[in-house]
Amino acid sequence: MEIVRTVAGLRAWSRAERSKGQTIGLVPTMGALHAGHASLIEAAAGQCGRVAVSIFVNPTQFGPNEDFARYPRSWEADCRLAEAAGAQVVFAPTVEEMYPGSSGAGPGTFVDVEGLGGRLDGAATFVEVPGLSDRLDGKSRPGHFRGVATVVSKLLIACEADRAFFGQKDAAQVAVLRRMVAGLRIGTEIVVCPIVREADGLALSSRNVYLSAEERRQALVLSRAVREVERLVACGERKAEALVAAGRAVFAEESGVRVDYVELVDWGTLMPVEVVAPGALFAVAAWVGATRLIDNAVIG
Ligand code: PAF
Repeated sequence: MEIVRTVAGLRAWSRAERSKGQTIGLVPTMGALHAGHASLIEAAAGQCGRVAVSIFVNPTQFGPNEDFARYPRSWEADCRLAEAAGAQVVFAPTVEEMYPGSSGAGPGTFVDVEGLGGRLDGAATFVEVPGLSDRLDGKSRPGHFRGVATVVSKLLIACEADRAFFGQKDAAQVAVLRRMVAGLRIGTEIVVCPIVREADGLALSSRNVYLSAEERRQALVLSRAVREVERLVACGERKAEALVAAGRAVFAEESGVRVDYVELVDWGTLMPVEVVAPGALFAVAAWVGATRLIDNAVIG
């Protein structure tokens, strides 16, 4: 498996493979790869002739008090997992490579965070997806989806992939990226893969490593809430008010967990819906200790 560090290198690889008749799949990640990522890479390998995995802890999608500096980094294990799951290339750029022209003095300076590259201040070029960026996770993480849309558009433009693969766990991110790709007319198809769960229901997340044993137990409340709402829908309940209340009631049973949101929304617009309809998404987010976790189900 090849390691590529530059945008030019990724583009050259992609064009060379395409000239041989290959289709290109891209799996954007921030590393700390787990079985959920493996399922994305395997899906990409099943649908595309060649697969690139990007590993880049994107500073612009972290808020000032979030976990950029301590975000888990496991380079060698990540490369092993990517290769075993079917990737031919890992793209691992520096912050300067992804945000060129932002490292001078003044606006756009990198603020070094514990020697890890740091957040970006100021005048880098950003991609905005108005209307969606301040919904769900974007509401409690201002600027998060601006950072995501920016870095993913850069990755898609660099890779010129036929398809890019994302997990349904980040359902709001998927909505933002679908709209971004349509709005910028980027010719990459967004493919969404199912949530991968532990045997007890916990959705896999790179942030699960932060959980203590007790928090790991408490975190199951997210998937319990999702399952309960799925059960009620299967029994015929259609009203959002009742379903959201049922989800909240499950959270109320777990006192150590602080709810961020419990919402029934349209997956395209991320706006609340009143009754279950095609494309309805039940989504939850909560802090378990200091760790913010998310989960969801498409119930329309
Ligand atoms: O889902 C993630 O891991 C990140 O948000 C992404 C899409 C790789 C962008 O940094």
